[in-house]
Order: sequence, then C-alpha cells, then structure tokens
Amino acid sequence: MNQYTEEINRRRTFAIISHPDAGKTTLTEKFLLYGGAINLAGSVKGKATARHAVSDWMEIEKERGISVTSSVLQFEYDGFCINILDTPGHQDFSEDTYRTLMAADSAVMVIDASKGVEAQTRKLFKVCGMRGIPIFTFINKLDRDANDTFDLLDEIEKELGIATCPVNWPIGSGKGFKGVYEREAKAVYTYSDTEKGTREGETKVVPVGEETALRELIGDPASDKLLEEIELLDGASAEFDLEAVRKGQLTPVFFGSALTNFGVEIFLRHFLQMTTTPLPRRADIGLINPADHEFSAFVFKIQANMNKAHRDRVAFMRICSGRFDANMEVRHVQGGKVMRLSQPQQIMADERKILEEAYAGDIIGVFDPGIFSIGDTLCMPKEKFAYEGIPTFAPEHFARVRQVDTMKRKQFTKGVQQIAQEGAIQIFQEFNSGMEEIIVGVVGVLQFDVLKYRLENEYNVEIRLENLPYEHIRWIANKDEVDVEKLTGTSDMKKVKDMKGNPLLLFVNSWSIGMTLDRNRGLELSEFCRE
Ligand code: G4P
Repeated sequence: MNQYTEEINRRRTFAIISHPDAGKTTLTEKFLLYGGAINLAGSVKGKATARHAVSDWMEIEKERGISVTSSVLQFEYDGFCINILDTPGHQDFSEDTYRTLMAADSAVMVIDASKGVEAQTRKLFKVCGMRGIPIFTFINKLDRDANDTFDLLDEIEKELGIATCPVNWPIGSGKGFKGVYEREAKAVYTYSDTEKGTREGETKVVPVGEETALRELIGDPASDKLLEEIELLDGASAEFDLEAVRKGQLTPVFFGSALTNFGVEIFLRHFLQMTTTPLPRRADIGLINPADHEFSAFVFKIQANMNKAHRDRVAFMRICSGRFDANMEVRHVQGGKVMRLSQPQQIMADERKILEEAYAGDIIGVFDPGIFSIGDTLCMPKEKFAYEGIPTFAPEHFARVRQVDTMKRKQFTKGVQQIAQEGAIQIFQEFNSGMEEIIVGVVGVLQFDVLKYRLENEYNVEIRLENLPYEHIRWIANKDEVDVEKLTGTSDMKKVKDMKGNPLLLFVNSWSIGMTLDRNRGLELSEFCRE
C-alpha cells in the first residue's frame, strides 16, 4: 500500500469493443454526458472522421498531430475516475486495436440487438478472452426491432464461449419497446425517448410484484410476456457470480438504447460496481500490484505524428502502479537509461492536455524521439523489472513490397524498418533470403495505404504493393524442436521469417493449416508471438 491507494482504487479503465455501427461511439458519448465531461453529445469524436476517405484521414492525423483513430477519454462519475480506451473498429482496424485491449482492465462489448454477434466482435472478444479480463455486454438499439432475447443470449454463449447473466431484461423492442426489467430490484423501468444529448429522462419504476400497477404501466400483452420470460429466465440462466465475472467467464448483460439514452445510466451504475480497480500486471519479478509499487508503466501503442520535418512520435503508456509526476526521473528498462519523460500529456478526443500527475490505471502519451518500442517498461530508477511483452497478433493481409527506384535501397529499408518498429506493420522475409524481398503483413488493409503514403512522404521512396493470397500466419511454437527446412506443407504454403529470425508459415486457408499439422507430427503452431 502507498499513499496513492485511494486515487488508484477509484480508477476504472476499460475498452469498448464492437462491430462497426453497433453503437460504440453513441454509447461513449452518453457515458461522457453522465460524467459531465462534455455538454453536448456528438462532439466526442467527429463521427465524420471515421468515414473519411483514406487521404482525408491522413490529413486529419497530420493536422491534429495525434491519433484520431484511438484515443483515451477520462471522466469523473459518482466518485470514480473513468478511463475509456477507444478501440478503432472501422476501416482503420489495425494491430493498435488489439494492443489497446492490452491496456484495459475490462471490456464493454456493444452488440446490435438486430444483428447479434458479428465478425469484428468475435475477433476482439478473442483477444479479451486471452487475457481473462471481465467483459460486460450492452445489447443496443432496442428502440428498433430486435432479435429474440433468449436467442441473443444463446448466440453469445455459443459463438463466444462465455456464460451470460442478464442484469436487466428488455420488454419488447422497436415500436413496442416498453422498457427494461431490472432483475435485482425486481422492478420495471419504463422507456422514455429522451432525445439525443439530454440526460436519461423521467423513468417510472414499478415493482414487478405489484401486478396491477405493472399491467397499467405496460399493458396486458407485454406484462404476460414479461412475467413468463422472468420465470423462464430465473430457471434457466446462470447465477450471478462476481468471481466468474472478474475472471471473464461470465458476462453480465444489459439491454438499452444508446441513441435515445435509455438504459445507459443503469448500465454505468452496475458496471462500476462489478468491474475491477486497476489490475496487477505480470513482470519478470512476479505480479506488480498497482498500489504496492511506485510508478511503473508499459508502452502499448506508438503513434507516428506524420510530421515530415520532425518524425516525432507519441508513445502511449498505461500506468500500472503508483503515481506519475511530470518532473520525476524514470528508468526506461529496455533502453537502459534514466530520463525525464518529455511533454507528458493526456490525449483527449480532440485535444492534448499537458499533465502534471497521473495514477495507476491512467494512460499517458509522451513525446518519443524514436527510443520506445511496443511493450517497453518504465519504472523508478532504483528498480529494473520488465513487464511481460505484448503479443504480436497474426496479420490477415499480406503483400509483397517492391521499391520502384532500386537506387533508394537504404531509405527503403530504413523506412520499412522504422514503420515496423512503431508496430503499424509487420515485415517478413523469404525464409532463405535477405531484405531484397519484403513481405508486409497487416491486421487491417488500411495499413497498406498508410505504409505507401508514409514511405513516399517521409522517406521519399515510391513502392509497389503486390497483394498475396495468404490469410493465415502461424508462428512455429516449438521452433527449437523442428527442422523448418524439412517441413512439408501444402503446395500453397510459404515459409518466411520475421525480423527476429523466427520461422513462420503462411497459409491461404485454414484447411492447409490442418493438412500441414497432419503431415508434420509434433509441429506446434501459434497465432500469437510472445517474444
Ligand atoms: P459505432 O461507433 O459502433 O460504429 O456506431 P455508432 O455509435 O456510430 O452508431 C452507428 C449508427 O447507429 C448511427 O446511425 C447511430 O446513430 C445509430 N445508433 C446507435 N445507437 C443506437 C440506438 O440505440 N438506436 C438506434 N435506433 N440507432 C442507434 P447513423 O445514421 O449511421 O449515424 P448518425 O447519422 O446518427 O450519426
């Protein structure tokens, strides 16, 4: 324990994950409204930003000099200090989206009630699942016709492999949406469309036990259906178990409508009670408890400023323990240097705020002259521990990169390597050759455009990208036991190595992965690389 325990304990740091258009931005806006961080919903993240064409997006990044694709929002609510990590989910989906999840202590999964579990929710969920952090589900858009509630829960359980426990239950949907039944209070909250931008409106609350009042409030058909569903639900659903929630084995489920601001406050209230204070994090000397240690942090994202003249970058770090003070000296463990962090700032949606102090749970951005890498640790000068690295996630799109002017070999190599070091792309080489042929792998296709644009603008190198058909990459988990030269896979399999020399296999489809495993007994393949 140290004197910052109180500040640390009131922090809640979470990410919101969803498939595009499920309502993540709208829900975030409403959260901020409750926190009083902004007055008007809609000004959080220019929604238009997400829809800009590639070139405009670049311009915006340049103009603002910060990432508009992933930002951190901090607000106060009911004595809590809340950090929301925005995970880009649109066409700019990239490794950063995954890495951001490494900095969160819990995740809120937003699902569109008429769509159910969608592709990107599945991918993001997998990463949260890997970390075993608590996951809360907000089923959104109940003001529109929704899928059957039991079917939605069933889909979450089957598709994502997590048990569900509804905290509230919707009464109808679309034109017939009457409100939600809150199970703990055994009361109905009636739906009121409070329009964009206002706080949650007047809600009538009626205990379900008072059946006459209930029938008067929501009518006979809705009451009959609700009473029947409650009975079914109480018999069928998993018991609420906070331990299981904390371990990411059970997801509390909420229903509402972010747009009309219904069910958001109920969510926030329960969520803040159930989610965790900043979690301990694993380092090479064991678990580091947030309140037991002085300042420590790790870098989870590096954002190039795209300022041609300076090539400066912002390194985002998550504070894992203690208190950060703008004047203190810290040790950059991987760089082996003690230093003052330059221009520490809190990055809000559209502004930077120079920051004096911050606590475990908070995210800060610091000016990076090119010394930090993803996963690096910062701690007090007297300490030397390093946090467990951030896994490298499997890219899903691959292209061969060639420079147009072969005379610019040096700039080309330097540019590609620097951009890879920031973590925007992953680079691979043919298994038995050097840097003359580079294969680039990315999580989101937009990164290809980013690479081309940046090489041209910052390094003056024109490149040509040739798309490759591979969709799956696997690291060889037991590389010391396997003779990669002798591996026999399918004819469309390709052997490559990453910049650290680790052997990898590229596959066109998942069938080839299975075949290769069949043909090489003892071979172990992995979707993540932990080095
Ligand atoms: P995202 O960040 O997850 O991509 O989703 P976003 O919040 O941008 O919402 C996507 C669309 O869904 C928006 O409509 C938004 O207004 C709408 N939406 C969000 N929550 C609800 C809800 O609870 N009910 C209903 N009916 N709609 C909701 P849009 O027309 O694409 O954008 P806009 O013109 O409203 O900005």
